[in-house]
Amino acid sequence: QADERESLYLVSEFAKNYFHNTLLKTEPGKAIGLSYFKERGFTDETIKKFELGYSLDQWEAFTAHAIQKGYKLEYLEKTGLSIVKEEKQFDRFKGRVMFPILSMSGRTLGFGGRILTSDKKAAKYLNSPESDIYHKSKVLYGIYQAKQSIAKEDNCYLVEGYTDVIQFNQTGIHNVVSSSGTALTSEQIRLVNRLTKNITVLFDGDAAGLRASLRGVDLILEQGMNVKICTFPEGEDPDSFAKNNSLEELTIYLEEKAQDFISFKASLLASDAKNDPIKKADTIREIMVSISKIPDVIKREVYIKECSRIMDISEEVLFNSLAQMLQKDK
Ligand code: CTP
Ligand code: MN
Ligand code: MN
Ligand code: MN
Ligand code: MN
Repeated sequence: QADERESLYLVSEFAKNYFHNTLLKTEPGKAIGLSYFKERGFTDETIKKFELGYSLDQWEAFTAHAIQKGYKLEYLEKTGLSIVKEEKQFDRFKGRVMFPILSMSGRTLGFGGRILTSDKKAAKYLNSPESDIYHKSKVLYGIYQAKQSIAKEDNCYLVEGYTDVIQFNQTGIHNVVSSSGTALTSEQIRLVNRLTKNITVLFDGDAAGLRASLRGVDLILEQGMNVKICTFPEGEDPDSFAKNNSLEELTIYLEEKAQDFISFKASLLASDAKNDPIKKADTIREIMVSISKIPDVIKREVYIKECSRIMDISEEVLFNSLAQMLQKDK
């Protein structure tokens, strides 16, 4: 199976270069794809760094070219780059700007492709399907470009989308990766854990998924890492914010806004619960769940004191509740 995986890597590598060349060297690539990226504020340097691309708006431009170059349809199909139906073959990605997804060591695993029209029915992003080389729960977009900076800065920014990663780089912040819109997994966190114990999670300013996304953050605590949370103003995401601000402004914003995760969660839920005692009890339980995930006993104690202050409840009750939870986990 090692040989077959190698073939899938080679096909993916070829596709990455093909889409990148299509963006830079063909008329439609330049007129449509490149001007789209330019409008988003991406420079040539950024486009090269992330090897961004364009897929032609034709049924089998890529597939035909790849086969002509000697790549087997079997592998093209197994990476999901080509779709075979009733003995006809099609390109999965057409008329989209392409974001290659690389492994920690720089191998091409798959792609995200963004639609350029504002067709409300079509999905904004189309992604490679799971394959023998691409498991979306195990990769972080941008990790290859970010790894050195994450180690050097001893911190990693975690954002929602591809363009957030790219725009941060463009602005001058390089220690940033994206979970690509999926719920965070332990495998993804482990990739970062090898490089730093500090994660700052940056959420889009659309509030909708915020409460649900906070659950995934407990997984970071479980690995003994320190987590901070930073939100953006309503309607903004890290991409738009970085585009409209200087490096200095962005740095100041991140420094001032980033809040410790437990305090952030406690304040958010406390304001949700207000004077409703039942809700308040639920809230306290939820925060205690997060605190119980922290492996370090001393850190736990510090957080309980903090939580007691924010929630206006005695430390003793919180320590009892923690003891119960730890008992149950056994
Ligand atoms: N995503 C996806 N499929 C979708 C929508 C989103 O895979 N239909 C993933 C993409 O990785 C995307 C991330 O979720 O980058 C965050 O989604 P969203 O905030 O909606 O997109 P943005 O990254 O902000 O993209 P853009 O600025 O181009 O609209
Ligand atoms: Mn596998
Ligand atoms: Mn969003
Ligand atoms: Mn976004
Ligand atoms: Mn965006």
